[in-house]
Amino acid sequence: MALPNIQFTDDQLRLKEVAGEIARKYLLPQAARHDKEHSFNEDGFQAAVDAGLLGTWIPKQYGGSENGVLGLALVVEEFSKADPAFGVAFAVNALGSFPIIVGGTDDQKEKYLPRVAAGEAYCAFALSEKFAGSDAASLSVRAQKVDGGWKINGEKKWTTNGSRAHIITCFAVTDPDSRSRRISAFIVENTDPGFSIKKTEDKMGIRSVPVCETAYDDVFVADDRLIGGTPGLGFKHSMMTLDLARPGVAAQAVGTAAGALELANVYANRRRQFGQTIASLQMVQQMLADMAMKTEAARWLVYACAAAADAGDLKAVNKLAAMAKCYASDVAVQVATDAVQVFGGYGFMEDYPIAKFYRDAKILQIYEGTNQVQRMVIARNLTKEVGSYDYLNEVIPTEVQETYAADYEIANT
Ligand code: CAA
Repeated sequence: MALPNIQFTDDQLRLKEVAGEIARKYLLPQAARHDKEHSFNEDGFQAAVDAGLLGTWIPKQYGGSENGVLGLALVVEEFSKADPAFGVAFAVNALGSFPIIVGGTDDQKEKYLPRVAAGEAYCAFALSEKFAGSDAASLSVRAQKVDGGWKINGEKKWTTNGSRAHIITCFAVTDPDSRSRRISAFIVENTDPGFSIKKTEDKMGIRSVPVCETAYDDVFVADDRLIGGTPGLGFKHSMMTLDLARPGVAAQAVGTAAGALELANVYANRRRQFGQTIASLQMVQQMLADMAMKTEAARWLVYACAAAADAGDLKAVNKLAAMAKCYASDVAVQVATDAVQVFGGYGFMEDYPIAKFYRDAKILQIYEGTNQVQRMVIARNLTKEVGSYDYLNEVIPTEVQETYAADYEIANT
């Protein structure tokens, strides 16, 4: 694997600064209220639109600023430091548009991407279903061919941004008898007759972003809304999309960890016990140091993954995206948990902002592929790499190699 070359452009650094300013001005002061009221931070969103951040990951020819997955990660991290729920809403907007970027026809890109970049069209990604979560290939929502297009029927679960989205990239079965070309992806618009929001979920965390059950009742989409124009490419498009989108959720995790750490650090340096600040107690110092170390390690793994994605190293990205998502989300949960511990009894109270970080963090280990799925993806990649380590045969004892060869023969006869 080529080493990812992490280099930030001036424009990416500017985006990070702008996102940080928006986070401090619009997100941080309102995060608790939106969480309590389950309401989306429309002011923060408008500020992001006005600053041109909605086109961060979209190519210039379609109205974006072409700052890639790395630009997206920098922005999502800043937002998530202040409010992880806002961070995921932004990341999922990218997730919902990636199928068009990776698989769409030129006409589809020209029609939809400029609207996304301008903030006029907001996106969601409808893959998961009641009986199809980790096993994403086992979908049952059906799209049947009709004159001039397709009719979609069924229900999707956990569609993040569901009720705010204008564009929903929806994955449906078009060829039930095929294994490899069973699924296709469609562009559904929220105004399409038959599309509805069945339910908005009541959640443990990320409460200000709507996560919905979406229903498709004979939703007609014309042929030109089949992503890529050829049926059967949907599963591949979904996997390629997730490889590019997981760094965004991983960046949300880094922001969550960084936000929790900042709060814990400030609190520890102000709270006095035993005649001194608790930050001067070695046990608290150790916690803060570990939190900082893990957050920093997660951050650079995410940047490395994003840089590989932007360099088009898609083979490396599959493994790195799984690693970044898995590691950063495990770190976020650990850091948020330790931050609550630093706050002590106050940490358990909703009066302080840290409890929300703890609640918001948990979902990071579950969505965009559970961390068990990520570890499976990493392990599959490792298995594929074995062939490239033939030079190690020299240091592996001959009897081990012979036993292995015999086992291999038995297993393959
Ligand atoms: N890029 C391109 N193609 C890929 C690919 C990738 N990264 N991964 C797999 N494929 C291709 C394979 O090459 C294979 O192609 P052929 O049939 O031509 O050989 C095909 O796809 C099937 O691949 P697998 O055999 O590996 O598929 P699988 O059924 O074993 O599933 C899986 C693999 C990794 C478990 C996948 O199902 C998965 O990622 N599951 C998790 C789903 C997920 O992340 N859901 C999240 C929903 S979005 C969300 O959560 C958003 C939100 O709210 C924040």
